[in-house]
Amino acid sequence: MLGAQASRLPGAGETPAIPFFEEFMHSSNKAINIWLAMVGFLVVFLVIFGGWVRLTRSGLSIVEWKIITGILPPLTQEAWEQEFTEYQQSPEFQKINRSMTLEDYEFIYYNEYIHRLVARLTGMLFVLPLFYFLWKGAIPWRKSGIYLLIGLGFAFQGWLGWYMVSSGLIDRPSVSHYRLTAHLLAALTLLALCFWAGLNNVYGTERPLDRPQRKSAQALAILMVVILVVQISYGGLVAGLKAGHASNSWPLMFGRLIPPGLLSYVEPWWKNLVEAPVTVHYIHRWFAFVVLLATFGVYWVARKRGFYTAVRQGVLWMLGLVCLQIAFGVSVIWFRVPVWLALVHQGTAITLLLASLFLNHRIRYAQPLPQAIPATKSVKAVVN
Ligand code: HEM
Repeated sequence: MLGAQASRLPGAGETPAIPFFEEFMHSSNKAINIWLAMVGFLVVFLVIFGGWVRLTRSGLSIVEWKIITGILPPLTQEAWEQEFTEYQQSPEFQKINRSMTLEDYEFIYYNEYIHRLVARLTGMLFVLPLFYFLWKGAIPWRKSGIYLLIGLGFAFQGWLGWYMVSSGLIDRPSVSHYRLTAHLLAALTLLALCFWAGLNNVYGTERPLDRPQRKSAQALAILMVVILVVQISYGGLVAGLKAGHASNSWPLMFGRLIPPGLLSYVEPWWKNLVEAPVTVHYIHRWFAFVVLLATFGVYWVARKRGFYTAVRQGVLWMLGLVCLQIAFGVSVIWFRVPVWLALVHQGTAITLLLASLFLNHRIRYAQPLPQAIPATKSVKAVVN
């Protein structure tokens, strides 16, 4: 539906941007918005801190999952020694950290401990106020689906975290890269649901009158998120396989644009796509340009359809962010995966995901300009 008639309403581009924070603070759902924002911030912290735990090789330091008693760290010298003795039975200590002292152990222990503790607190911070809001009717039951899903998601994520860690405690000293990616994606899904619920509160979910005319823009915006999620998943696989170290050059890899044997590291050939570090790294470094292309597609449609200024500017920001993210990814490779840069790369991926969801929400629900409703067929301008 992007034919020649897709013109812009004069002045639509000059419509003022949506006062997000004003809406956020003054909406009748202010308490719910603040609650969701706090939970969201904590999930972002957990994802980035999870990256720190992984990159400092701390994730396998606590070899048991004690849901209740694990809230406290060892409190006496004896308890520390006991904990360290248990860790000494693990493949990571046996194969990699044999010279580790108790002091070194305390460092990796506390990293993992903080991650688990904040995760517990975040789950509580979500679930307890949820009961309160449901009880008070601030969240009506008919709208409670997304919140109940997030609550269940937290429980699932706790289990998934342990399921991931347990894969590194049997014989090899690293976790399954599939489970690591699943854990990353589940965390991002929780974040995405909190963010979407917040956007629903701030902007509402009333279907706009010109909905049929937006179908192509909506479809493209959804495709952009799907492509981004595929890229993020590949990022997780790269991280889990430590495949960032497979090559430290870009754009060439082993001196070639397409290195030989990409599909012959393991059998059958298709397993290379998800299991061979070099191949997974290769896909991740180039699939980024598919993300760029999809984002450009959304920008093009938003311009052509005269979507209001904030959407067009939002997609422009997103285009800039994708370029920045590619530059960070390349730098991660060139500088051989420095911890801080890898974390910045991860943080930018989260920002990109949130930006893409924001744009999807606006493209879906932004209301048309009042004067655009009865106007001619050619009117396609959209505004909040
Ligand atoms: C839109 C573009 C991109 C997105 C959304 C993205 C996203 C991600 C994500 C989510 C991770 C996993 C982080 C973690 O779980 O700790 C990751 C890891 C990684 N990415 Fe990207 N990435 C992009 C582009 C690139 C590019 C262009 C390169 C290289 C040319 C690259 C190189 C890497 C490397 C080496 C890692 C592993 C770092 C580590 O071991 O911590 N990325 N990426």
